[in-house]
Parts: sequence; C-alpha cells; structure tokens
Amino acid sequence: MQNGFTRESLKKYAGQSRGEFEKVLGELVEIPTVSSDSSHNGDVQRGAEYAVSLLESFGAKARLYDTPGHPIVYGRFDRGAGLPTITVYNHLDVQPAETPDWRTPSFQFVKQGDRYFGRGTTDDKGPAMTALFGARYAYENEAPVNIHFLWELEEEIGSPHFEQTIKARANDFATDSVVVSDTVWVSRSHPAQPAGLRGLQGFRFTLRTGETDQHSGTAGGAARNPVTEICQLVSECVDGKTGKVKIPGFYADVVPPTKKDLEDLKNCGFTVKEFKKDHLYKKLRVEDPIEVMKRIWLMPTFEVHGIAGGYQGERIKTIIPPEATAIVSCRIVPDMSPKKIVKLVTDFVKSKNPDVKVWTEHALPAYQGKTTGPYADAVRSAMRFGFGKEPVFVREGGSIGAVLSMEKVFKAPVFFLGLSLPEHGYHAPNENFDWNQAAGGMAAFAKYFDNVAALSR
Ligand code: BES
Ligand code: MN
Ligand code: MN
Repeated sequence: MQNGFTRESLKKYAGQSRGEFEKVLGELVEIPTVSSDSSHNGDVQRGAEYAVSLLESFGAKARLYDTPGHPIVYGRFDRGAGLPTITVYNHLDVQPAETPDWRTPSFQFVKQGDRYFGRGTTDDKGPAMTALFGARYAYENEAPVNIHFLWELEEEIGSPHFEQTIKARANDFATDSVVVSDTVWVSRSHPAQPAGLRGLQGFRFTLRTGETDQHSGTAGGAARNPVTEICQLVSECVDGKTGKVKIPGFYADVVPPTKKDLEDLKNCGFTVKEFKKDHLYKKLRVEDPIEVMKRIWLMPTFEVHGIAGGYQGERIKTIIPPEATAIVSCRIVPDMSPKKIVKLVTDFVKSKNPDVKVWTEHALPAYQGKTTGPYADAVRSAMRFGFGKEPVFVREGGSIGAVLSMEKVFKAPVFFLGLSLPEHGYHAPNENFDWNQAAGGMAAFAKYFDNVAALSR
C-alpha cells in the first residue's frame, strides 16, 4: 500500500477538509437546481457553471456539455495515458421542495452539529462532493488512475437527454469503469452494495367531461364527474389497501426472487421498526420484514403520486369540475419491459374508460448489476476501509436513468458506492446529510480509486 492510503492519513485529510467541504456543499445546496421546474432553468445553469469552476479550483480540467435540456458537467483528473480511467457519476439536480413541512428554509444550507440540512444535501450533492474530495486525495497522492466526473442535471426528470449526449461524444467520455454514488444504505450500521435498481414507467391520466365548473345542484346527478371517474379508474387498476395491481398480466414477467435473493434479504440488517422510524410511518400494509423488503426492492408497484381536479380551497364549493388528472407511475423489476407496461396499462385504461387520455412519462427499465468480480471486491474493500463495516447485498427500490445508458454507451461496467442513509429523507422535507457519511465516504472513495489502480498494477 502507498503511504498516503492508510486509514490514519485519510482521517487526517477528512478532518482538515471539513470546513472546505461544508463551504462548497453549502454553496451548491443554495443554488436551487430543480430540474423539473422551468422557472429554475437559470438556477440549474448557474449550478452547472458553479460545478465547473469548483472542479477547476480543485485542479481538474472541466467543461459543460450542452444538451437540448440542462447541461452535463464533465471534469477530469488525468494522471496519464495508458492508466485505467474511472468515471464517477453523480447528479446535481434536485427535487422540488415547496412543501410546508421544512423546519429550516429548504434551499438554505443549515448546519446543526454533524448534520447538514437542505434540499439536495443527500440526493445527490453531498455524495457528489464527498466523491470529489476523495478523488482529489487520490489524485494528489498519485494513485495511478485517471478520475473523471460526469455530473448530470436531469436525473430527477428521468435523464431524457443523457444517453444521446454521451453517445454523440462517446470518445470524449471513454472510460474503463463507472462508479455511481446515488444510492441508500439499509441503515447506518449496514452499508449496501446494490445488486440492481428498479425501473420506472410514468403516466398521466386525464379526463375532460365538461367545459367549465357547473353548479352541482343544477347539473349534479346527470353530469359526468371527472374526479369520480378518475378515482374509479385508479381503483380498477390497483387495490388501494393491499397495493396489489389488478391489471391482468401486470406481474407476468416478474422474475421471482432466487434463494440467494432471499438469503440476502435475511442477512441485510433491515428492520421494520427502523424503516418506520426513518420514513415516519406508524403502520404499513404489511409488517413482516421479508414481505416489506420484497415490496420495496423486488416487486413492481402502481403508485398514485397525485390527483388533480376540482375545488381545493376552504370549506366546500358545490361545483362539478370539468377535468381531472391522475399522476401515476409503476416501479418495474427484471424482466418487465417499460414498452409492454405502457401497452398493458393504456389498453386497460381505455377498456375501462375510453374517454381518458393516457400520457406517458419517464421510461426506465430495471437495472441488474454485478456484485462479484474485482471491481465489486474493490467496492467492498473501500467500504470496509472507510466505515469499518461490511456491505450487504440488496436491490435498490429507486431508479437512475443514466446507469443503463452508461453501461451501454461506454461498454464499461457500473458499480455503486452510495453514501445516503434512510433517515436522510430522500425527496422529503428536512433532507439532510451528515459528516460521518462524508468523512467515511472520502476515505472509501480514495481507497476505491487506489484499489482499482492496483487491479492493473
Ligand atoms: N437517488 C435516486 C434513486 C434511488 C432512490 C436510488 C432510492 C436508491 C434508492 C434518484 O435521485 C431518484 O430519485 N430517481 C428518480 C428517477 C425518476 C424521477 C425517473 C426515482 O427513482 O424516482
Ligand atoms: Mn439521486
Ligand atoms: Mn432523487
């Protein structure tokens, strides 16, 4: 081992870097890079430009790549031609944060002891900055690898322009392997080494049955009510209480869990009690831990994100609304195909209510990753080094559009070194990251780069 890559030296580096880490994470969090809201387009651009200047200030070469949507940030610490290249993927766009449940302003970086609050702290700006600090350490200590950064600003909207952009510039982006830091541990004491991600197929169902609001006393009884019809349609698609999808054929392609999958669930350290605490639930649909894990990681879902239409104000307004919308998505698992789900759902909706218009949104297949081989071993050793804990195998329940695209276009293997915790509040109010994950993560990343360098030494 080179001298620089001892646990002691990395502890020292993290400690010395803390103030700088908090400064750059704070500056980044205070740029509200909400990719789904066009009123934030200027902020997204500003966030990208900030990221380029940050990479440059760290001694990397960096630039923006334009896409038809938000740009991609690209940076590189090059050590030498002929050395292996590792590309680090993160996203710097964030979810909206307009809900009223924030205890501190959502786009203000608030430090409380070892915790950092603000939208994007854990998803995914904190992990991005952690990986950058780990990479700078590996670079300055001359680990014989080239480290490149690919920071997306459209991840939270399904990565609509990512694949075409990296494909058009595949030579610029060429790499030997990719490491993604955008996933969640099982718990603080159980780092995860993800064996895959669920995919996603989004929909909007809209129904228009009138021109304007009408008095429910004059037209009610005879007029169609689009909100009622949309509610009925939703309940024809899914059992609201159990979550079971009622669309025939929906589960047909689901690969049942293998013996190894079930073993991994048993051994991964998940508890229902912690899960409820982390996600602020008192009661779940099921309480058996294996059943809960199957539902969040291995099984497909049909989820309603919102229903819009009709009166939303104070007290009552006795109208019949003209229009209603349901915003829906299905998480999908191996071997389900987004195309097939679109056809299945659209045909089913049309058969139940021909007047409903179906619009499709993000389409991402599920991802199956590797948890064996030299890179996977390098991840495990890096996690042990950074956190003193052995990672467990799980499949993640969320989706990252860029992962499949990078594997396909770069023809390079993709691995995960995630740092977020369930209690950090992904997409929730009071999202946070913490210094323990950052300090351990810097060490884990530095070690990972050195481990991968050693593969070809
Ligand atoms: N970091 C998440 C993906 C994730 C979630 C990984 C949970 C592991 C566990 C990512 O930022 C995300 O939120 N993705 C979206 C993608 C969608 C909008 C296309 C998701 O999963 O909903
Ligand atoms: Mn993310
Ligand atoms: Mn996210």
